[in-house]
Amino acid sequence: MAKEIRLDKYLGEMGQGTRSQIKEMARKGRIYVDGQPEKKPERKIDPAHNQVELDGRIIAYAEYEYYILNKPQGVVSATEDSRYETVVGLILDRKRDDLFPVGRLDIDTEGLLLITNDGDLAHQLLSPKKHVDKVYFARVEGELPSDAKERMKEGLELSDGTITLPADLEILNQGQNGALSEIRLTIREGKFHQVKRMFEVLGCSVVYLKRLSMGSLTLDETLKPGQYRPLTEEEILRLKSHGKERKAEDVG
Ligand code: URA
Repeated sequence: MAKEIRLDKYLGEMGQGTRSQIKEMARKGRIYVDGQPEKKPERKIDPAHNQVELDGRIIAYAEYEYYILNKPQGVVSATEDSRYETVVGLILDRKRDDLFPVGRLDIDTEGLLLITNDGDLAHQLLSPKKHVDKVYFARVEGELPSDAKERMKEGLELSDGTITLPADLEILNQGQNGALSEIRLTIREGKFHQVKRMFEVLGCSVVYLKRLSMGSLTLDETLKPGQYRPLTEEEILRLKSHGKERKAEDVG
């Protein structure tokens, strides 16, 4: 059976106001359901069948939203912040008011960030048990040790004593005579400042960092920093099925 929700919850979730504001809107006759004015905010709505209008605008309902954002530098991975613009604030087309970023990128990191309100999917992707691959591109200052790949593969001891899971380092461009090196690194966990801290252990510092992918989701080259788009149905299904495969692996 279709899930019914209260009219005030429906409009509240779609960012149209607080419960008391919606009650007032209903009282003033600004809300219509299936073409009829509706004064009762507690009225049950079936989002699949009822049409809700506010001030003559149809308010479509979305239970879940999924966006891929190319996070620009200078924006924080948060829902609210008193000083900086937030990644959620960049999603101008959002219908829902409960979106959040799945994981965090540092303020100076660019690249792929999933923004959604699907808490189950976020858990699947972020759970330390799931070991979801995250691929980063970085420009690194300082000479990379000759055994950098092997040390990344074995796992490194970070400054706080934690040992990282095996990571795959690909050197795209080895900087000579003090020039920056370009690398691609695949990690399977998400510790605080992980990539930067891993290179610190190798005596180098990351001067530019961009996330290229997370699980099956890959940043498209067409998205410039600050741009976003909704995920396709296929991308959503692939991300969700990854979590299920991992569950089966845990059992087996
Ligand atoms: N590792 C980092 O050091 N910073 C990020 O933003 C992401 C991974």
